[in-house]
Amino acid sequence: MAGRSFRGLQVVAVMRAQDSAVDGSADASRALVAFDPIGRCAEHLETSTFQGWKTWYVDRADDAREIVQREGILVGIAVIDRTMGKDLAQLEALGADGICEWIAIANAESIADSVVRNLVVRLFHDYHTWPVDSIRLRQCIGHAWGKARLRRDAFRDDSQPEQYGMIGRSAPMLALYRRIERIVQVDAPVLIAGESGSGKELVARAIHRHSLRSKGPFVAVNCGAFPSGLIQSELFGHERGAFTGAHQRKTGSIEAASGGVLFLDEIGDLPIEHQVNLLRVLQERIIHRVGSTQAIDVDLRVVAASHVDLQQAVDAGRFREDLHYRLNVLHVEVPPLRDRGADIALLAERLFQRFASERRGNAKGFGDDALRALEAHHWPGNVRELANRVHQAVVMSERRLLSAADLGLASVEDSPGGHSLSHARLSLDRSIIDRSLRMNGNNVTRTARQLGISRVTLHRMLNRLNIRA
Ligand SMILES: Nc1ncnc2c1ncn2[C@@H]1O[C@H](COP(=O)(O)OP(=O)(O)OP(=O)(O)O)[C@@H](O)[C@H]1O
Ligand SMILES: [Mg+2]
Repeated sequence: MAGRSFRGLQVVAVMRAQDSAVDGSADASRALVAFDPIGRCAEHLETSTFQGWKTWYVDRADDAREIVQREGILVGIAVIDRTMGKDLAQLEALGADGICEWIAIANAESIADSVVRNLVVRLFHDYHTWPVDSIRLRQCIGHAWGKARLRRDAFRDDSQPEQYGMIGRSAPMLALYRRIERIVQVDAPVLIAGESGSGKELVARAIHRHSLRSKGPFVAVNCGAFPSGLIQSELFGHERGAFTGAHQRKTGSIEAASGGVLFLDEIGDLPIEHQVNLLRVLQERIIHRVGSTQAIDVDLRVVAASHVDLQQAVDAGRFREDLHYRLNVLHVEVPPLRDRGADIALLAERLFQRFASERRGNAKGFGDDALRALEAHHWPGNVRELANRVHQAVVMSERRLLSAADLGLASVEDSPGGHSLSHARLSLDRSIIDRSLRMNGNNVTRTARQLGISRVTLHRMLNRLNIRA
């Protein structure tokens, strides 16, 4: 079995058998459940390797991701090989998201390959080479599991709904935190994509605050905010007398950001004729102030954000491909609010508390129809829109419990076709909560935690759905 090279991808997702026990108590048998259609791990690993771990065997990265998410799995094992080609790219997504820790198994030639090596260094907790020392692998699984559990508990901690200054514990937000966690450990350029108001600037500030450059400045420039004639001097600065009206020497944003982070917001709005100058900065790390021939060294990390799809802008000839390539070394996608599930209510509650503490009013919280409307709304303006609606409602409403109308939203029952939609939602809510309660032995705290909502919200939903825990 030594040194065998495997084509294709095999991913084994592992969880402690006791974690899957229905009532949370230890599973006495700690049986190994192995689904292994190709039979490679089963063939080449000692049977005792995964003993005590409930084990799924899959041969597609998509399936691995689905199982990891569905079962809340904390440790994954990926058998990788340099002949995998496209599958290696799929592993990229697996390793970068969520809280699961991944362990690679590869043969020595594969590890010597720079693509595989890079992937392993960036994304994996550890790696093993064939022939695998099963004792070492078992220890490694234990360590990885412990580490992932710590991370999961930190994310789930009700007293800590924020990570990196952002509120949210939904799966897409956990994936975002995980990405940030990795990004702050390196110094490469970052491109942040996401709809307007979704939190791109918060992410940029978090990257600065948690990176090695946190002691240096954070300088934000909105690339769409300046007329074309002024951008050059805004970014690069100018000497006195460089042009009419340049009465004083001015330090540009790039120079001001030296030692820290330059945040180029709305980079898609940077006129194409200025893009080449920025490209040069990224390549050569020197600038010239307008009206000067003196080269100034700059040492900065560029974090750019755009709500427009830059690849499309490249295709349309509005954005230089080489600049896109330089900026997009590390990519972050901030999820739209509508995809964040229970985070919508969580954010609404937090924003409500913030605004209500600024003003003594009647409102004590949200009514049921408001919560339903928050959940059903499409949120084109994302978190900023939510904040505005909650602020407006807190200031204007005379009610004890804010209604959908206070938030400027249609009541779900009122909207055309709303009746059937709300019915569908209620029955879906009921079945999910029912199942989770059963899995958690009717324990409300554990159920709320599993569903990613607060106990208060769960109690409210139990009342509304007429479920007795
Ligand atoms: N997860 C979050 N938790 C708390 N507040 C948030 C979160 N996401 C965004 N916000 C708040 O929402 C507002 C919009 O966020 P931000 O400015 O970072 O978004 P953006 O994506 O840069 O928006 P735009 O595209 O309009 O520039 C800010 O007030 C920010 O503090
Ligand atoms: Mg912004």
